[in-house]
Amino acid sequence: MSYTAKPTIQVYKGWNTFYEKPVDEKLDFFTRDGRLFDVIFAQQFDRKFLDYICRLADKVRQLARTKMGAEKLRHLLPHKRCMLYFVQPSTRTFLSFLNACHILGLNVSESRGTSTSSEVKGESQEDTIRTFASYMDLIVARHPEAGFAEKTAWVLNRTDRPVPIINGGSGPDQHPTQALLDIYTLERSFKDIGGLDGKKIAMVGDLKRGRTVRSLSYLMKNYADITLYFVSPDIFKMKPDILGFLEKHHIPYHETDDFESIMPLVDAIYMTRIQDEYADDATRETGTYPEFDFKKAHLSMIQAHCALLHPLPRRYEIEVEVDQDPRAAYWRQERNGMWLRAALIAYVFRVDDEILKEFT
Ligand code: NCD
Repeated sequence: MSYTAKPTIQVYKGWNTFYEKPVDEKLDFFTRDGRLFDVIFAQQFDRKFLDYICRLADKVRQLARTKMGAEKLRHLLPHKRCMLYFVQPSTRTFLSFLNACHILGLNVSESRGTSTSSEVKGESQEDTIRTFASYMDLIVARHPEAGFAEKTAWVLNRTDRPVPIINGGSGPDQHPTQALLDIYTLERSFKDIGGLDGKKIAMVGDLKRGRTVRSLSYLMKNYADITLYFVSPDIFKMKPDILGFLEKHHIPYHETDDFESIMPLVDAIYMTRIQDEYADDATRETGTYPEFDFKKAHLSMIQAHCALLHPLPRRYEIEVEVDQDPRAAYWRQERNGMWLRAALIAYVFRVDDEILKEFT
């Protein structure tokens, strides 16, 4: 049976008005008792939260090293269930959330596409999510649509079972938990040289449609004296909404298509791949851009402490030989995602105190 019904489109009164509001005006809606409830936008994180979640991630990884510590973690949330709803391809985000849940003892259910759910029968996205909420205590959603996680949280917050939603990537718009693990990786990379404050960061590649660089840019307002370098081909320049945000927060940025010229200047280089899956005009926006790749030869041009990050997956943006260099942080970054997401889930379920208690 290959028949797929057209999705049912339900009208939710008030949603469009809410969606169009500036993000700053929406933040309270996703907060409870002064704590984040749904994790939808990078703009929800302030410095206090960022420092706290990084510290918590350090504690989780420290505890997980021993059998006794790992058992303590596993006993924190065995009574909770998490849904991983990933209807867009994912390796790292999916596996790191899955393993973060396992670390804390949660039970996990997953759906990795709409083709095996009742969406084939025409069930609306909202009813599908509401069904998850009937069985689960937390939903992590990755979806090709920009406002999906936000709408889901908005719909559920108006029901009598408003389980928290974590945005695991919303189309070309945002990827807030990636931004958290990127911050965690940057802070760890710079821990002996004063942390992230005062650093110069280059973001390279498809800045127009890369959600990771967008979310990470929002977080820069939380750090003192940051300078950003946006390095991209002309057609993939950072969008005006992010540039406007940086201007509003007095964060200096430079745009260039000359990658090599900024290599010696920066403390971190954040590489990204071309996001062809979002191409409006496949002939124009696909292809490779070798002048925006980081090659082994470039290692001699960057500073001794420069951290090389990439959200991964990579294609040709970073030559594989670069992996051997201690400044290549992307494989550590990937693993940091698991610890950071475990810390985030612990925070959402308010068992963070129990983790910190182990260290007093
Ligand atoms: C990124 C994503 O999905 O946005 N990957 C990830 O989550 N680690 C980056 C990408 O796909 O290029």
